[in-house]
Amino acid sequence: MNSPVMQGLNLSTPAYVKNAKLIAWVADMAALCKPDSIHWCDGSDEEYNRLCQLLVDAGTFKKLNEAKRPNSFLACSDPSDVARVEDRTYICSEKREEAGPTNNWMAPAEMRATLQPLFDGCMRGRTMYVVPFSMGPLGSPIAHIGIELSDSAYVAVNMKIMTRMGKAVYDVLGVDGDFVPCVHTVGAPLQPGEKSVSWPCNKTKYIVHYPETREIWSYGSGYGGNALLGKKCFALRIASNMGRDEGWLAEHMLILGVTNPAGKKYHVAAAFPSACGKTNFAMLIPPAGFDGWKVTTIGDDIAWIKPGADGRLYAINPEAGYFGVAPGTNTLTNPNCMASLNKDVIFTNVALTDDGDVWWEGMGEPPAHAIDWQGKDWTPEIAKATGAKAAHPNARFTVAATNNPALDPQWDDPAGVPIDAFIFGGRRSTTVPLITEARNWVEGVYMAATMGSETTAAITGQVGVVRRDPFAMIAFAGYNMSDYFQHWLNMGKKLEETGATLPRIYTSNWFRKGEDGKFVWPGYGENMRVLKWMIDRIEDTASGTDHVFGVSPAYEDLNWAGLEFTASQFDSVISLDKEVWEKELELHAELFKQLEHRLPRELDETLTRIEKRLAA
Ligand code: OXD
Ligand code: MN
Repeated sequence: MNSPVMQGLNLSTPAYVKNAKLIAWVADMAALCKPDSIHWCDGSDEEYNRLCQLLVDAGTFKKLNEAKRPNSFLACSDPSDVARVEDRTYICSEKREEAGPTNNWMAPAEMRATLQPLFDGCMRGRTMYVVPFSMGPLGSPIAHIGIELSDSAYVAVNMKIMTRMGKAVYDVLGVDGDFVPCVHTVGAPLQPGEKSVSWPCNKTKYIVHYPETREIWSYGSGYGGNALLGKKCFALRIASNMGRDEGWLAEHMLILGVTNPAGKKYHVAAAFPSACGKTNFAMLIPPAGFDGWKVTTIGDDIAWIKPGADGRLYAINPEAGYFGVAPGTNTLTNPNCMASLNKDVIFTNVALTDDGDVWWEGMGEPPAHAIDWQGKDWTPEIAKATGAKAAHPNARFTVAATNNPALDPQWDDPAGVPIDAFIFGGRRSTTVPLITEARNWVEGVYMAATMGSETTAAITGQVGVVRRDPFAMIAFAGYNMSDYFQHWLNMGKKLEETGATLPRIYTSNWFRKGEDGKFVWPGYGENMRVLKWMIDRIEDTASGTDHVFGVSPAYEDLNWAGLEFTASQFDSVISLDKEVWEKELELHAELFKQLEHRLPRELDETLTRIEKRLAA
């Protein structure tokens, strides 16, 4: 090992790091960011424990009660740094039209000139962590490697849970292997002797992707998808570009296995917008009336999907952990998730109870007193009087997939699992039926492309307004959305040509409300009834009713054993109202107008066909 020194900074590289491009890049970035020291993460438990202790000493982490929540911590962020910042997220392709109308864009040269002064000296007084990670099982033909440089130990420990992080990545990388370079800074350099605040960040934020050179640069935030760059930045925005170029799909989808009483197993990938219950669906427990059925989790947020030699689509979960929304999670809505959170968890922005445990809205009986996510006293009385939330609505848990009691035995299989069905599901109080099957691939792509959803707390901005969220990818497609639709159509066409059976495509909506403003459909485990209908359709044993934009079940097509749900209740979640749909189709047309440059002809034609049928 040689030990070059730059401005007092020890640039020596561990002997096991042999990749010349990586070594040169780290030296360049150190010269730019000017950290006080460099820490090459090895991913060991010993390192994780050491960094967690460092975060406790710095006031970022509070260690939770070891008896109640072993080896778990709570971090509370700066109140200005609580969610993804979509208005500060950029796709910097050479040409604006490559990013398309749904992404923020700046020319790469202009963005580089903007970022250069911000990154110059941005890590002063801090340590630069070199975080090697694999998205997907190490060495899998579907996996890819990234290296994140970050001045946040919080990021390093979260990446250890969320990815396959550590030394073994360098073995796969070898001397000349390729990686996606990801640079992250909280943007809060320290003066000599200055002590860091517990959650450093900067008012100025930039989450930047250069798709052509496959680079990620993130400035000013320490939170979630802004900072854990393997997740949305790499596994979706950069990987969607890789997928388009190489003939595969990087999708905002959970993956689950569902096994019927005869032991036959199916795999379903489902795209829901942020905070629409993906983790709940991925960990679903079949309700009464479904003896012998089993649901197992492969992933809860992202799927990388590649065609196999047999013409089927095979999916892996590129992540190794769950970064899930805590509020609303409880032992009734998601028992598997609650069991996953018993130990070895990092909580962010939930409340701290007086006995050193955590609490959030919707977890169950509130404590008489707690410290809220902003460090203030919280009681049910204060909440009643002021509306103060104990946990931030986008509060999160970070936990290893291996904590999940419903983890699928194949979750780590380098070959992936064959997909039988895709589901696209928005959050809509009205309009969209509980479940609809597309009659063919193009109709399915149309459903996914026109999906709308009411916004939630996972992003900054207004909550509860309907926005179009094609494929649940509005915030994550790293290139022009019309080209992305075309890529899906092309994939379907190519697979069809091989004679393979394509996965069925469905669109769901668990969120229709009655006149009393309450959800009609019980959701959660009861979604198994819908899942079974889909599988029966694949097996050709269930009927459905053909309507303007697909096929939906009639009341008698679902198994109601163990649930009281009347035909009229069912009607209120499955019905299609002509007038409402005329308005909905106007919104589809508006979306297509926005995306008209390079919009696939098939989608426009499908809209015209639906309009005609609705009018007839
Ligand atoms: C997430 C999101 O964090 O979609 O998964 O916002
Ligand atoms: Mn997500």
